[in-house]
Amino acid sequence: MLENVKAIYEEINQYNVASKEELEQFRMRFISRKGVITELFDGLKTVPADDRRALGQELNGLKNFAQERFDLFSQQVEEQQTSANSAPPVDLTLPTIPNLTGTQHPLSLVRQRIIQIFERIGFNVADGPEIESDWYNFGALNFPDNHPARDMQDTFFVAKDSSNPSNDMLLRTHTSNVQIRLMERQKPPIRSIMPGRVYRNETISARAHCMFHQVEGIYIDRNVGFKDLKDTLYHFVKEMFEPGTQIRFRPSYFPFTEPSAEIDISCQICGGKGCNICKHSGWVEIAGSGMVDPQVIANCGIDPEEFTGFAFGMGIERITQLKYVVNDLRLYTENDVRFLRQFEGL
Ligand code: PHE
Repeated sequence: MLENVKAIYEEINQYNVASKEELEQFRMRFISRKGVITELFDGLKTVPADDRRALGQELNGLKNFAQERFDLFSQQVEEQQTSANSAPPVDLTLPTIPNLTGTQHPLSLVRQRIIQIFERIGFNVADGPEIESDWYNFGALNFPDNHPARDMQDTFFVAKDSSNPSNDMLLRTHTSNVQIRLMERQKPPIRSIMPGRVYRNETISARAHCMFHQVEGIYIDRNVGFKDLKDTLYHFVKEMFEPGTQIRFRPSYFPFTEPSAEIDISCQICGGKGCNICKHSGWVEIAGSGMVDPQVIANCGIDPEEFTGFAFGMGIERITQLKYVVNDLRLYTENDVRFLRQFEGL
C-alpha cells in the first residue's frame, strides 16, 4: 500500500492543469469520493490493526497534499480565465495612442524670452497689483486729474472714492504702477523689469483687446542717461529679433517721461518693404520709453537731483505678433488647440 501512496504522490507532482476540464479530471482522480485516495482509505480496513494507524496518517498527508494542489490549480485556472475575459485582444497593428503633452502659450514663451534677455544684463523681475488705485496708475505718474492724457488709456474703474479721487480703484491700464511701487520701497540703484497683465476698456477685435500683457522696465541710478536707454533697447532688439533688424527712436509724449520716445523696428514680416502689418511704412512700433520725469522720481521720495533714470514699456502681444506672425489678438485667448499646437517644442 505504501508503494501506492508513493506512486500517487509522484503522479500528483507531475500533474499539470491548464483548463477547467483538466481541473475537473484532477478532482475526479484525486479528490472525489470515487477517486484513488478514497479507494486507499477504503483499503485500510484490510490492513492489520497494528499498521493501520501509521498508514492512516500517511494517507491523510496524501489527501491534504492533493487538496492543496487542487486549490492551487483552481486558483491558477481562475486567474487565467479572468485575465482572458477582461483584457481585449491585442492588435499589434493599431497605431499607438498619441501622447498629448501640453505646450507653452506663445505669450508665455515670449515673456520668458524677454525676461531672459534683460536678466542677462542685470535686470531683476518685479511684480505688482492688477487692481490698483488711481494714484499708482495715474497720479504718481504725472497724470493730473482731468488731464487729457488719461484719455490715452480707457480705464475700467472698480470703485470710486468721492472724498479722494486718488483712491479710486481701477484695473491697471499699464504696468507703470510697478515703477512707482518699486521706487517707493527701494533705494536706487533700481534695475527691474515688470511683466504683467493690463486692462483697457476697448471693444475686442483683431487689433484691440480689453486685456493684454506688457513688460515695463526701469533703471534708476546716478548718471543714467538717454544713451543708456538707447543701448539697453538696442541690445534687446538685437537679441529678440532677426539679425539685421533696424531700430529707430521717434519723439513722443508720455506724462511720466521727459524726453519720451517711441521705438520702432523694421517690419519683421516684410523686412521693411511695406505690408499690411506695418501699414506699408516698413516700420512697426514696439515700445514706449523715456527718461523718468524728475517729478515722478520725487513723487516716490527719491531725490531727482541725485538720481536719474529711464523707463520703457512694451506689449507682449505685439512682440509675439511680429515674431510668430499672429494677426488676430483674439487667438491668444480662444484656447484653440490648432493655434496653440503650432508652438510645440519652441
Ligand atoms: N506705460 C506706457 C504705455 O502703456 C508705456 C511706457 C512705459 C512709456 C514706460 C514710457 C515709459 O503706453
